[in-house]
Amino acid sequence: MALKKKIGQIVVGNWKMNPQSVEEALTLFRGIAVGAAAARHAEVVIASPAVYLEALSREKSPMKLGAQNVFASDKSTSHTGEISGAMLKNLKVSHVIIGHSERRKMGENNAVVNEKLLSALKDGFISIVCIGEDRRDLDGFYLTTLAKQIEEALSKVQKKFAQNVLIAYEPVWAIGKDSKGPATPADVLEIVLYIKKVLHRLWGKEGAKVRVLYGGSVDAKNAKEFVVGGGVDGLLVGRESLNAKAFSELLLNIRV
Ligand code: PGA
Repeated sequence: MALKKKIGQIVVGNWKMNPQSVEEALTLFRGIAVGAAAARHAEVVIASPAVYLEALSREKSPMKLGAQNVFASDKSTSHTGEISGAMLKNLKVSHVIIGHSERRKMGENNAVVNEKLLSALKDGFISIVCIGEDRRDLDGFYLTTLAKQIEEALSKVQKKFAQNVLIAYEPVWAIGKDSKGPATPADVLEIVLYIKKVLHRLWGKEGAKVRVLYGGSVDAKNAKEFVVGGGVDGLLVGRESLNAKAFSELLLNIRV
């Protein structure tokens, strides 16, 4: 019987709209690459602004490249300002983030997330679909929001793609410097189990192949708690991925 390949943690650094020059992007990338080389237990993906991807694609490093967004490609029509999957493929991008809450705030809804996901999977990307509630209510309606985000994002997606789909649970209240701070590992564990239940309902046992990440104020100090106590398959990291030293520490710290 073939042994199930053990997949380590995946850590995605989401640089958002940072840094402000290609020189800074290269310096940051090279700094993180040193840390990533020492942390072979983790698969590291850097989701850089699109304008730096070409420069980063020329770098030798153990890291993968990610995009923070992708258009639901239709090359035959006109889309000013958008970036297609084909363009990203040519820059060695393997991963794409879809439906980050900051994009949802700009109007991206579940239907758009679904279109983008269908297109990204067809183009062969490992697709990181972000979900997360704005706030928690005592009646637990936020769980329905999460289930709806997953169901609508995965609508018409074939379960044969399960291995290429990652769900990043990012409660909106835990993201960014003005947030309430991270969720607790116990909160995250509860949601990870809930997400797996929803995936099982949709895709049966194939659903177990979907990896589940946590994101929202993850730093070098708390990262391991999510891996150990939160039951995640990986982390989506914003601010801490802008500091090569801290991000490298985070990568080393999650070794279990
Ligand atoms: P943060 O951002 O780590 O800065 O909270 C996470 C994210 O938005 O992906």
